[in-house]
Amino acid sequence: MGQLKLFDCDTTVKPVNVASVPMRSPFRYPGGKTWFVPYVRKWLKSLDSNIELIEPFAGGGIISLTAGFENLARKIIMIEKDEDIAAVWKTILGQGGKWLADQIVNFEVNLENVQTLLSLHPNSTKQRAFFTILRNRLHHGGILAHGSGLIKNGENGKGLKSRWYPGTLKKRIMDITMIKNKIKFIEGDGLDVIKKNMDLSNTAFFIDPPYTKAGRRLYKYYNIDHEELFHLAGNIRGAFLITYDDAPDIEKLACKHDLELERVLMKTTHHTKKYELVISRDLAWLRKMQGD
Ligand SMILES: C[S@@+](CC[C@H](N)C(=O)[O-])C[C@H]1O[C@@H](n2cnc3c(N)ncnc32)[C@H](O)[C@@H]1O
Repeated sequence: MGQLKLFDCDTTVKPVNVASVPMRSPFRYPGGKTWFVPYVRKWLKSLDSNIELIEPFAGGGIISLTAGFENLARKIIMIEKDEDIAAVWKTILGQGGKWLADQIVNFEVNLENVQTLLSLHPNSTKQRAFFTILRNRLHHGGILAHGSGLIKNGENGKGLKSRWYPGTLKKRIMDITMIKNKIKFIEGDGLDVIKKNMDLSNTAFFIDPPYTKAGRRLYKYYNIDHEELFHLAGNIRGAFLITYDDAPDIEKLACKHDLELERVLMKTTHHTKKYELVISRDLAWLRKMQGD
């Protein structure tokens, strides 16, 4: 039976055009889900518009932000364990958005200024937020995990500044402050928050955990109990959608917990093609989307 289910799960679907997705996050996030936004829109529109959306592994938060800006959920809860990322969300969704935006536009990016600033220990949450945005925009691949370093050559010979767009970042941050009343941020463990809220009916979970293969290189916190996550997901009362890297162990876990699985084609930043897994109790909306 388990063997049969594995074959049932093995379906491949086409990519969608993501050119129209607005970039709303101040982060350039490794493993970020901007490319997945058209799918999440369809998913959330297939649910009751009065739902609360919970994103237990928020990272750069593009899914929560999109739901907030496009009124796809009544209320949104974002959770993130990394203290640096958390500092950014606490600052923008608290009282510090304008302060952070001003720091960004007033900072002159050059190697000396950046090295001097990043050698300091932040003395407040909002300063930690500023240092995090700086590292995220000026590090290779936006990677904040231990061992990552500053961009040297960058795009078009622009070196360190190749991903530093202060005016755009300011606008994105100020836009988020306009919808901050819809979004609650929790610094903590995503699995704990799922456990505490899994009995709620009018709730949808968008679950994008650290990847099994690349997680160690990309994130400070990469080690989660994937088996436990599937166990919890199987007991969620409302809706949920899980995305993962295309790993055979994850496919087996989905089948073991009797969940539906589809492969979705994404294009990486290097324009290579790669599949990711989408897992849920019911993926009829996704299959319909692929058939459209
Ligand atoms: C794949 S990324 C999420 C990317 C996000 N969907 C986006 O579009 O930017 C996974 C995130 O989970 C965070 N994380 C790792 N372990 C966690 C935990 N136990 N609880 C909450 N967040 C965690 C990582 O720091 C990382 O930001």
